[in-house]
Amino acid sequence: METVTVTLIHAGQQQDIKLRKGLGLQALAKQTSALEFDCREADCGICICRVRAGGEHLSPPTAPEADFLRAMRADPEERLACQCRVFGDVKLEVDDHAVT
Ligand code: FES
Repeated sequence: METVTVTLIHAGQQQDIKLRKGLGLQALAKQTSALEFDCREADCGICICRVRAGGEHLSPPTAPEADFLRAMRADPEERLACQCRVFGDVKLEVDDHAVT
């Protein structure tokens, strides 16, 4: 099984989590509370994160994600974790869930 490393930066801490290549970031919900998910449909924004490295290893934004990020005037490095699949090592920073 090929794995990738997802590095999460949250609340000043850094955490490396192994994930099977090609899985969605939603699979991390079982292993960390740093990333939160609710709607899982690019609708609520609670899963927003900043890509600090390896953005090219994430699946491109889905149409609903692109619509949401555009409406939020999100920065280019921001992604909705619930919409991302991971194909290589990536480093993500998660805020303290300021989006409501
Ligand atoms: S979980 Fe709601 S937008 Fe990702």
